Amino acid sequence: MTKTSLAGSRYSGPAIFFHWAVFLLVAAAYAAIELKGFTPRGSAARALAMGTHEWAGVLVLVLAVPRLLWRLVRGAPAPEEGSRWMQLLAGAMHLLLYLFIFIQPLLGLLTLAAAGHPLAVPGTGLELALAAPDDGLKDLFEELHETIGSAFYAVIGLHAVAALFHHYMLGDNTLRRMWRQR
Ligand code: HEM
Ligand code: HEM
Repeated sequence: MTKTSLAGSRYSGPAIFFHWAVFLLVAAAYAAIELKGFTPRGSAARALAMGTHEWAGVLVLVLAVPRLLWRLVRGAPAPEEGSRWMQLLAGAMHLLLYLFIFIQPLLGLLTLAAAGHPLAVPGTGLELALAAPDDGLKDLFEELHETIGSAFYAVIGLHAVAALFHHYMLGDNTLRRMWRQR
């Protein structure tokens, strides 16, 4: 993500809202799928955990669209002082995270559709059938969804540790400018 804005040294209110709302939804999606593992097969708790996982994930995708548009239009504040390679690394991480919030929910929806159980939107009669039923494709989408899901524990963890490192060890504005506006 290279476009920087002249609008100031902080992220705008909407950018801050999108960042933390998406973070909470991704955390909810992860928590729900982990909790599902502790529920008995066929139980109401298992269905609730799966439903929470799916809908938290769909909301990530719903917010990802205006978030990316806002980012493309408004840009981001210029990076804090730091070496060129650190700025490049942060930019690459941010690009990966943007890709993740689109690709991961889409793979979830594709998995369900290819399995022949597309996600139904309650009260509308609509189904998010992004693919025709196909066992081979279902396995591929599921495998990708699981692999990316596991890998991003580490990517998100690194991103969060980097933010905390900037805040507590380097003492710069990196976390503050994504936290609240002046
Ligand atoms: C950011 C959003 C999402 C994240 C981080 C995420 C992450 C994960 C993870 C970590 C797993 C467990 C993989 C494993 O067993 O190793 C999983 C499974 C799954 N996810 Fe997602 N997911 C997201 C969105 C979605 C969406 C939007 C849907 C569908 C509407 C979905 C459908 C599924 C399905 C069907 C499984 C397999 C569940 C099972 O058989 O136990 N996911 N997801
Ligand atoms: C699901 C989890 C997360 C995702 C998907 C995510 C995604 C992103 C993205 C895409 C950016 C770049 C924003 C832009 O320039 O438009 C960003 C920036 C940032 N994130 Fe996260 N983030 C997550 C979690 C966290 C957590 C847990 C923290 C803190 C502990 C954090 C702290 C920050 C900070 C401080 C910035 C601004 C960096 C800068 O100004 O260079 N993020 N995040």
